[in-house]
Amino acid sequence: MAPHHLITSHRVATPDDASERTFSITNTLKLDAKAELDALERGLLAPAASIAPKFFYDALGSTLYNAIVLTPEYYPTRTEAAIFEKFRNEIASVIGTGKQFIDLGSGDSVKAEKWFASLKPSRYVAVDISESAAREALARLAGNVDAPELAGLITDFSSVLDVTPVAQPAATLFFYPGSSIGNFMPDEALWFLKQIRAHCTLPGSGLLIGIDAKKDSARLDAAYDDALGVTSAFNLNTLMNVNRLLGTNFDVRNWQHRGFYNAAMGRIEMHLEAHSAVQVKVRGAVRAFAPGERIHTENSYKYAPEQFRALLVEAGFTEPKLWQDEGKDFNVFYAGISSVG
Ligand code: AVI
Repeated sequence: MAPHHLITSHRVATPDDASERTFSITNTLKLDAKAELDALERGLLAPAASIAPKFFYDALGSTLYNAIVLTPEYYPTRTEAAIFEKFRNEIASVIGTGKQFIDLGSGDSVKAEKWFASLKPSRYVAVDISESAAREALARLAGNVDAPELAGLITDFSSVLDVTPVAQPAATLFFYPGSSIGNFMPDEALWFLKQIRAHCTLPGSGLLIGIDAKKDSARLDAAYDDALGVTSAFNLNTLMNVNRLLGTNFDVRNWQHRGFYNAAMGRIEMHLEAHSAVQVKVRGAVRAFAPGERIHTENSYKYAPEQFRALLVEAGFTEPKLWQDEGKDFNVFYAGISSVG
């Protein structure tokens, strides 16, 4: 099936009102909603039930995620931000200026914007699954007179990463912060890094990426099961989203959040656990859940620095450089490509 490419152009007045900035957004999402819902149904009816983490992020789920990062227990976001603040100039001097800046999972683009002064990108490409998020972010950036040329790409890169509809042939910095790569299985993470590497064709290209580090189980458990119950609400909200999308009749009150570190697997696991026997209508079928039975909703892998460095090298990047906070809770890597290959 041919991909759906929809390009929209936007004009934004700059604050001094003397000029206008324009940007375009290219939407390559294949609007295959039926296949997505079929996969969701299969996941619920499987003996080991699961819901893909992308179903966390409806409007309420995205708001709850923004609240998670403010909880005292969820350290990754603020620790990464502190590493970026502390080492910004040093990291920028390793990367160099004037590159095309491709922001994977750009959201509100706030993290990326903080790099504009030091990296002086020639161009900024916001890549996100949410067109409204990218449009709002780019419109805000367009009002910033110091922002570079702007563009947006709407795609679901959890399956395939293809930035060619918007990328220009230039030395490119890929930016993938927030430990989002931890939400892939390790073999998928390697495949994703290889896809980024394949887009780094010109000398000076590379990847700036943040990934959470392995640590004491108690801290990890708390980060994914905070005292206020924000992560619990975030996880449970998925059932309300699934009710809306698939017409199921989950009652959130029958379910409990479970978020814990599985040290043997090196990952956080999030599940929804039935309090008691529950029957749920899933399209034409009924899925019976036994008391204590779980629906797996997310993995969040944690990497020791040497483990992630090896993954970057295996993906074809060279000489990954590492920055960490004092407690070594979080890893920030910049990895380039060899000038000869
Ligand atoms: C988006 N991602 C990096 C978060 C994480 O830490 O894996 C998602 C999350 N799930 C629960 N809390 C945060």
